[in-house]
Amino acid sequence: MVLFATASPTKSVAIPSLLLLSAASGALLLFFLLPSLSPSPSSCSCSCPTTSMTTTVTTPATSSSLKSIPTLTTEDDVHWLKNLLVRNSLDVAPLSQAEWHTLRKGINPRTRAQQLQDLLNYHGIAHYKGLEAENHTALPCPGELLVEEHHSNYGEPWAGGRDIFEFLASATNLSPSDMVLEIGCGTLRVGLHFIQYLDPNHFHCLERDKLSLMAALRYELPSRGLLYKRPLIIKGEDMDFTKFGEGVLYDLIYASAVFLHIPDDLVWVGLERLAARLKPGKGRIFVTHNIKFCRRLGEEECTRRLKKFGLEYVGLQTHDSLLFNHYETWYEFRSSRV
Ligand SMILES: C[S@@+](CC[C@H](N)C(=O)[O-])C[C@H]1O[C@@H](n2cnc3c(N)ncnc32)[C@H](O)[C@@H]1O
Repeated sequence: MVLFATASPTKSVAIPSLLLLSAASGALLLFFLLPSLSPSPSSCSCSCPTTSMTTTVTTPATSSSLKSIPTLTTEDDVHWLKNLLVRNSLDVAPLSQAEWHTLRKGINPRTRAQQLQDLLNYHGIAHYKGLEAENHTALPCPGELLVEEHHSNYGEPWAGGRDIFEFLASATNLSPSDMVLEIGCGTLRVGLHFIQYLDPNHFHCLERDKLSLMAALRYELPSRGLLYKRPLIIKGEDMDFTKFGEGVLYDLIYASAVFLHIPDDLVWVGLERLAARLKPGKGRIFVTHNIKFCRRLGEEECTRRLKKFGLEYVGLQTHDSLLFNHYETWYEFRSSRV
């Protein structure tokens, strides 16, 4: 059973459309020919956490499947970029520091620490002096944030946030008018991509850490021109979602690398409250890494509790990264209320 066993990750694979089509037709034929093999309504309702591992399949988007704002990087996109890199003789990256240095044509980069020192000393290289230094900046941002120290907070490249967005948005068929809640959005490594994609006021987040909130609000949103999206990002660690207003229902609620750090009791309090805020039908909760909060209870009790809250376990999915050798594991839940 997936919930109670260590997940062996399934990597995303690109499958040619023709192969997919023939596989799908075969499956359809089998479904009609062998009704006894097709899952009964009770066994596919997923109200209990049984084995269910899904492979994320990346297929090229056709023009009809492209929305005005695409959520997924397609094979066509990657092909286009690879061609452009070849055309500009950029397809092989430098292998040594000496080669990088040659590319820089002798210009020495300033490290984050050096840039920070410049900011502390002069507020910037070309800078106003004296009183003038105080009245030319609309949203003064602390130097530590300007040099993006917080991009190293999670022990892996910041770019991984895009992978998570692409996976969740496509897994839930997200549209810009959907409502999304992130629990523990941190420095907005992932949230930024949702905020960019969603309509104004459609992204909510509950985050407990002051430094992360400062990075999100004082640097990430203004520096990316996303203030107009008015994301509702609120400080809190008690799973109190009333702060986002009564009656808000979400199409997607996700917690990326968060539930594994929270005491089980608090996770369950959160799940009970979140279940009531999940849009029946489309709404999904996605959680990364593991669901030990469930496993530790034992299968029967976990299933009973989920059911009591009106939640069903859907399954486990993994997805690959666009830019580096890395994958994520996600557990999906949906509302059992119709
Ligand atoms: C490893 S970071 C991940 C941040 C972000 N989700 C990401 O993937 O980039 C975990 C985040 O969860 C937040 N967090 C931990 N417990 C929390 C709680 N009880 N309520 C809200 N946020 C919490 C932490 O402050 C931290 O920002």
